[in-house]
Amino acid sequence: MLDGKTIVVTGCSSGIGLETARELTRRGATVIGVDRNPNDELDRFIETDLTDPAAIDELVGRLPDSLDGLCNIAGLPPTAPPELVLKVNALAPQRLTRRLVPKLAGGASITNLGSLAGIGWADAVDQIKDFDKTDFDDVERFCRQYDMSDGGRSYFFSKEVLLTWTMRNRWTWRDRGIRMNVVSPGPVDTPILPDFAATLGARAEEDMRVMDRLGTPQDIAPVIAFLQSDASVWLRGANLTVDGGMSSYIAMTSTGLGD
Ligand SMILES: NC(=O)c1ccc[n+]([C@@H]2O[C@H](COP(=O)([O-])OP(=O)(O)OC[C@H]3O[C@@H](n4cnc5c(N)ncnc54)[C@H](O)[C@@H]3O)[C@@H](O)[C@H]2O)c1
Repeated sequence: MLDGKTIVVTGCSSGIGLETARELTRRGATVIGVDRNPNDELDRFIETDLTDPAAIDELVGRLPDSLDGLCNIAGLPPTAPPELVLKVNALAPQRLTRRLVPKLAGGASITNLGSLAGIGWADAVDQIKDFDKTDFDDVERFCRQYDMSDGGRSYFFSKEVLLTWTMRNRWTWRDRGIRMNVVSPGPVDTPILPDFAATLGARAEEDMRVMDRLGTPQDIAPVIAFLQSDASVWLRGANLTVDGGMSSYIAMTSTGLGD
């Protein structure tokens, strides 16, 4: 399915990124992993701190030409400092993608890791527009201005930004056939799951009552592999929710159409 493709995976040392690197490799791809933490499994791995724009630029310089795909998976949970959450989850994927596009092959696929947490983006349009003007050096000001430390707001907002950025740039690079899509998981059993429970409190328990089980990285990785494959060439700016039905539940209950 992915024979002959070379794909960059950020966040490859744990959780969803680690499983994605394994899944893409199993399907025939050559994976170049990126993470701030070491990775002993991958033959090709570049240690990078994605909070640092200079490190991102250096990473781009070290990556080869003619890449077939990029999976922006690295992320921090809502318990991390807000400015770091916005850097890793929102600014880094944008900078890495923009800088890497010249090195992508025609027809390449970009897959971003969103979240069910991004579902409320339509209520944050003004903030999202303001964030367009924000970069690594003034993200702390943005966090203070919009109180991003309030109840894990930085995490929700980072995913609203990533989701809408994906939709807005679904085919920005159309002249080269490069497409971009987003995968939005519900709660997945990875090392950061307790951080969500700590932030959401009773809301997290309430959410769990409408699901049969937690997701696993093995539920998410095949969907990312599909988006990286040629089977998905007409998906552009699509948001694939992989959440055990949770977003459907929210849509139906909030509109009175069912439960
Ligand atoms: N676990 C969930 O419930 C869930 C749900 C929806 C979306 N997500 C998203 O999935 C993605 C992966 O999360 P996960 O659950 O696998 O968590 P995880 O902590 O297991 O993996 C995240 C990876 O990102 C890396 N990372 C963090 N900061 C970095 C930095 N500054 N530079 C480089 N790498 C960095 C970490 O080292 C780690 O390997 C994240 O974007 C997260 O927001 C997770």
